[in-house]
Amino acid sequence: MTAPDEAERELALRTVDLKKAYVSLAGPVKALDGVDLEVSAGEFVAVMGPSGCGKSTLLHLLGGLDRPSSGEVWLNGSRIDTLGESGRAMLRRRAVGFVFQSYNLVPSLTVAANVELPGVLARRPRRQVACRRAELLERLGLATKSGRGVTELSGGEAQRVALARALVNDPALLLADEPTGNLDSRASDEVVALLKQFHAGGQAIVLVTHDPKVASAAQRVLSMRDGRLVDEARLDRGQRARPQEVAGLVQLGSGA
Ligand SMILES: Nc1ncnc2c1ncn2[C@@H]1O[C@H](COP(=O)(O)OP(=O)(O)OP(=O)(O)O)[C@@H](O)[C@H]1O
Ligand SMILES: [Mg+2]
Repeated sequence: MTAPDEAERELALRTVDLKKAYVSLAGPVKALDGVDLEVSAGEFVAVMGPSGCGKSTLLHLLGGLDRPSSGEVWLNGSRIDTLGESGRAMLRRRAVGFVFQSYNLVPSLTVAANVELPGVLARRPRRQVACRRAELLERLGLATKSGRGVTELSGGEAQRVALARALVNDPALLLADEPTGNLDSRASDEVVALLKQFHAGGQAIVLVTHDPKVASAAQRVLSMRDGRLVDEARLDRGQRARPQEVAGLVQLGSGA
């Protein structure tokens, strides 16, 4: 691992000319085609773009879940794309919370055990983890589901359990892929409020969303198309942007 220098330390994330190609039956697919991204420590960034443009691929690489075909990924000043599976897993466990588009809950465990899992893996005190789990489930309207199996949940409930699991260790960086995709507007508002509160606590967030209302909670909205970042809009912190303004900015960025 390369030692972090002063400038790197201020960045939660940095990528350099990041590329990812998949091999599919129809031939190679360029999922990422040269992404240069910097996210400051404590910054809240939203990523928007059409289906298939590479958003999930980007999040997976940022969190060290997969390795790029070429380019660099730096997490908290450490280069992670050159690390092996276990090295990336260790960094991730310590610093990153992940909400997957497909939830990835453990089907044999209860809601409570799923949420507590990252805390257990990080060997934090059980009581502290249980306390944070209870707080998050209460906040997300899932307190009564704590002892249930996760296979009994609706899509929206499973999504909120996945968010609680990602936040249970209060990671410095949250990577969230469509965390409101299956929620009605009330549950979605609650998730956004939770994200804002988490961000106010100094944590960085990279959030993939199709919903301009959700994106308008961020400080910066990036537009992605065909594996590239094509535009960005900075949203004034004092004057929260309206969703229709975000939708307009993103359409400009995607060349539509
Ligand atoms: N494991 C894989 N093997 C082959 N191709 C893949 C694989 N994963 C993703 N792709 C392709 O890479 C491209 C980017 O996929 P990705 O999942 O990153 O898109 P996305 O922007 O997250 O889309 P969505 O909004 O639908 O979730 C797509 O063309 C997709 O078909
Ligand atoms: Mg996706």
